[in-house]
Amino acid sequence: MTFTIEFQPRGLRIDSAQPINGLDAARQAGINLSAVCGGEGICGKCVIQLLTSAEEITPSEIEQKYLSPEKLGQGYRLACQTTLISDVKIYIPAESIIEDQVLQIEGGDSSHTIHTAVRQSELKLKRAHLKDLTSDFSRIKAVLKDEDLTVGLEVLRGVPALLRENDWRVNLWTRGKDIFHASAIRNVHTVGLAVDVGSTKIACYLMDLTNGSTLTAKGTPNPQIAYGEDIMARLGYAMQGSTQAETLCHLTIAAINQTTAKMCERLNISHDDIADVCLVGNTAMHHFFLNLPTGSLAVSPFVPVTTDPIYPSARELGITAMSGAAVYTPPVIAGFIGSDHLAFLLAARFGEDQRVRLGIDIGTNTEIALQVGDRIVSVSTASGPAFEGAHIKYGMRAAPGAIEHVQISENGSSEIQVIGSQPPIGICGSGILDAVAQMRMRNILNHRGRMDKTAPGVRLAADGKPEILLSTSKKPITLSQNDIDQILLAKGAIRAGIDILLDHLKVDASDIEEIVIAGAFGSYMLPEHAMGIGMLPTVPLDRVKTIGNAAGTGARMMLVSTLSRARAEELADQIEYLELTVYPDFAMFYARGIQA
Ligand code: FES
Repeated sequence: MTFTIEFQPRGLRIDSAQPINGLDAARQAGINLSAVCGGEGICGKCVIQLLTSAEEITPSEIEQKYLSPEKLGQGYRLACQTTLISDVKIYIPAESIIEDQVLQIEGGDSSHTIHTAVRQSELKLKRAHLKDLTSDFSRIKAVLKDEDLTVGLEVLRGVPALLRENDWRVNLWTRGKDIFHASAIRNVHTVGLAVDVGSTKIACYLMDLTNGSTLTAKGTPNPQIAYGEDIMARLGYAMQGSTQAETLCHLTIAAINQTTAKMCERLNISHDDIADVCLVGNTAMHHFFLNLPTGSLAVSPFVPVTTDPIYPSARELGITAMSGAAVYTPPVIAGFIGSDHLAFLLAARFGEDQRVRLGIDIGTNTEIALQVGDRIVSVSTASGPAFEGAHIKYGMRAAPGAIEHVQISENGSSEIQVIGSQPPIGICGSGILDAVAQMRMRNILNHRGRMDKTAPGVRLAADGKPEILLSTSKKPITLSQNDIDQILLAKGAIRAGIDILLDHLKVDASDIEEIVIAGAFGSYMLPEHAMGIGMLPTVPLDRVKTIGNAAGTGARMMLVSTLSRARAEELADQIEYLELTVYPDFAMFYARGIQA
């Protein structure tokens, strides 16, 4: 009997008719698992996590040697030592993959005034002697010419030794009136960390706080994906108990720390140089990284614990940084509109003019904002993971081997462009969008989204349903009627959100002066194809602008500027949240949206 093996976070699936070794299965799916010993069981590198069926697969002696009992209990195994015999879902940890998934971390212009929340000062104090009995702290206040300065006990305890062992010279870091860190004079870098915690990926940036430049950036898959592809699944997992909720929090913080450690290594600096942190994310991610209860986000009316900005200490959150460093977490807007949306609108400079502007960040949940004059209204629409390749037979996330662009000719043959210029192993969102748009253009697909069985390039699959063949190079890659249905549902949710906003603010699509598209998928997709299938309203192409990971750009702006933080907080007050599901005629808008 054939069974299915699904690999996350790539979203790749293969079918097998017989028992198969885990390493072979990963290779068949096109995943480059790290297998230094080639499957001999002597390197311990090919670690996978069985998300289902773990209890049925007893760990071997070799696995017990490389993996702790705790890890084995969590379903971790060595792929080369595991025989898969039935349906199974497998998570591949980032460190087990040889090449990184394409994780977009680049954002658009982040020009802004540098006005950091923290300040570093190098002080030389007058030495204490019998004729000058001024206390150490009073000497510091005198040199900094600020009598209102305060200092925490931990810092104060270290100051006397620092001064006396370093010839009365000291480095001090202040935040507002508070001295939060002191160290010996050394060649210090004043560095900050900005992070956009997305449901699929986490984008981290190390910034120079003296000039606001990005020193380095790195993305990593969000390890929470092992506990559910979409946010509702993860919220459901967190609701099982405090241990489960804490697991999701710890996974996120650990991924941030590991990624930051790699960036620090790259720059030859220490974690201790990170003096300030800004974290953004959708509301569920925000609650997870702050370890706030998420129960109210999981059930109607989906209310967050707080929408206010919060300033916990890095230590409190478990973020490895300079002792005394704080983490700025900007406001969230509503249960499904988080600080990542706010960061996007800040980076795209919403609210700074009166134009009719549409801002869209396409993801599993797509957030859309419409600005008309002084008003900015935002919605969140459950577009699902189809554009990330899930629920699509050969779908996968944007990674080497994914078809990213497709051209279909009149005779039904396809020309494809593959990430990493290698034989294709699947198709990602932008490729799927291209294919559907071209099928519509060539009348292979009618306006109701049905495939014409007689059209060139279309064949009947084993189940008797039509499919179009996109590539035969390594393995046949097809797009079936079922795949198209999934895409139309996803694009229908996005279009319904846009149309409801236009209706709510009483403007016509032709009035839109600019469409700003954020996010990885948004950057790779061709806007003309998004318009071709009706995902976006038709406007002149020069009115469409893509700005990459705008949430990351907004986070960086807020890291290096308190003025940007103040602006973001004003923007948060200005944004009105509109709940789509209670909007009159929501079902009609949705039904209209899914037409091809
Ligand atoms: S490939 Fe070396 S232990 Fe599995």
